[in-house]
Amino acid sequence: MCGIVGVIGNQDATQVLLRGLERLEYRGYDSAGLYVNDQQGHDHLIKRVGRIRVLSEALDETVSGTMGIGHTRWATNGRPTTANAHPHVSNDERFFLVHNGVITNAAALRDAYLQDVDLVSDTDTEVVVQLIAALARTGLTAKVALQQTLGLVEGSYAFALVDRLDPATLYVAKNQSPLLIGLGDHFNVVTSDALAMLDQTDRFVALQDGDLVTLTADTVTIEQLDGTPVVRPAHTVVLNDGDAEKGPYPYYMLKEINEQPAVMRRLVARYTDAAGQIQLPAALMRTLQTADRLYIVAAGTSYHAGLVGAPLFEQLAGVPTEVHLASEFGYHQPLLSAHPVFIFLSQSGETADIRQVLVKVKAQGHPTLTITNVETSTLAREADHFLTLAAGPEIAVASTKAYTAQIALEALVAKALGAAQGRAAAADFDVVHQLSLAASGQQTLIEEADVLHAAARDLFATTRNAFFIGRGVDHAVSLEAALKLKEISYVQAEGFAAGELKHGTIALIEQETPVVAFITDPLTAAHTRSNAEEVAARGAKVFRIAAHDLARPDDQLQLPPIDARLSPLLTIIAGQLMAYYTSLDRGYDVDRPRNLAKSVTVE
Ligand code: F6R
Repeated sequence: MCGIVGVIGNQDATQVLLRGLERLEYRGYDSAGLYVNDQQGHDHLIKRVGRIRVLSEALDETVSGTMGIGHTRWATNGRPTTANAHPHVSNDERFFLVHNGVITNAAALRDAYLQDVDLVSDTDTEVVVQLIAALARTGLTAKVALQQTLGLVEGSYAFALVDRLDPATLYVAKNQSPLLIGLGDHFNVVTSDALAMLDQTDRFVALQDGDLVTLTADTVTIEQLDGTPVVRPAHTVVLNDGDAEKGPYPYYMLKEINEQPAVMRRLVARYTDAAGQIQLPAALMRTLQTADRLYIVAAGTSYHAGLVGAPLFEQLAGVPTEVHLASEFGYHQPLLSAHPVFIFLSQSGETADIRQVLVKVKAQGHPTLTITNVETSTLAREADHFLTLAAGPEIAVASTKAYTAQIALEALVAKALGAAQGRAAAADFDVVHQLSLAASGQQTLIEEADVLHAAARDLFATTRNAFFIGRGVDHAVSLEAALKLKEISYVQAEGFAAGELKHGTIALIEQETPVVAFITDPLTAAHTRSNAEEVAARGAKVFRIAAHDLARPDDQLQLPPIDARLSPLLTIIAGQLMAYYTSLDRGYDVDRPRNLAKSVTVE
């Protein structure tokens, strides 16, 4: 949520910042700005409402420099206006600041320290930059003023600060919001996500909470707030720079939908040996085997992936498994079992709702595993154990390949745990074969995109609402399919347990209401079919998606074969593609839906 970038050294700062901001746009895109300084007495501050493209159009060749900071915003405090866009500048025009996070005591700080300062924005960030300037006016150096300010602020932040009087130095600080330093040759960069600076360097230092960093072109000095020096290791981020490009696809979302078969195969290759045996870290296996109950904690799409994973852990490994929304769990923790193990599912690894749970359960002494796509992320670093989704960067705001990768990895872990415990159910489940069926089945469905486009047109072109129904994992996938449609096409969509419709919600069914029914569970297929009939009898336009062995000739889509427990790996491809085409046909920006951001770093 919000992306920040910075650069200092021998680079064309404007271009480095702009390109970085374009790649961070997934974190927020309601306004953007940058400040550059040529270290020879000239500087520029440019801010615009709207996308990075709008900012870019506002720049000409005079806006150049060798150091600077940039920001793309997802509004928290104050509407998306030019005044509220970052960088914020102190009234004496000495300090320039970009911020990702939320300062929770901004109002109190303003009342206590800034009574005589006129604020020009509604943001918490402006309070911080004015406070730094006010402290500097008392004779403190920029660094000490920043240090003292950090001692006063409460909340989350990744800050990058420029002191116009000393443009050979860039200051950054971090608490609860992600921030990395990228190491270059006579330059250094700052970024919320390594992805944004991969064209500059592949060597990154992930900062930790409480770090205050002083950067010059050739030095990186990291201290804690009390001035104690700390050394943080640099990691090489192995990512093909091209992974972050759209290539021939019109939208990242379509590219990422199309990548799913490859992601399935890559996951199998990553977590199995030549004999097809699952290989997970021994320490993780020991931890998992202590669990008398697993608690999967996640948000949004990742929560939906957890709902699909829970029955796998129960059936294959015999471990009772609960799935919880992170935003609820942290503040209303249920009574835990005697030996809980926590699994955090997260595409970004930065979700604040999840992190607050991680911090709490770690303090309670419970073992933790993070499954995420971003190896350098906070949740990956802070949990006891970490497994990568290895899905490659997911840029579109609507999550697709991370969801299917999460389910596939849950299946691999559940199988490994069941096998380690000698369970027959695990022995009978050939997960490697099933994931290979998933990959080929996904490919088949992707090749039927035209059919799904036509279905999307027929069902959703003009509708204001829609329903997705199913039972068991079909209910879980209904929630995810509805979320996909909602977030990128703004259709009011509901995922519903098929059997619950008749208990009230069926009252919403009218002539032509679109209802997609998922039928992959042999146990309940007949019941779900009856529920689909019931809505059709009340005028609904029903689209049935049925498993290979349950399909009837008049079902609109028949799935390729797969174990019913993994059917969401196929059914969701239909959901994703229908949502994609609906958004496209309605003329929306598929990758950047309104009001959203990909990395949700505020509670
Ligand atoms: C929807 C989507 C979100 C995220 C949610 C949690 O397409 O991506 O619902 O799943 O914000 O984010 P992560 O998975 O990064 O923890």
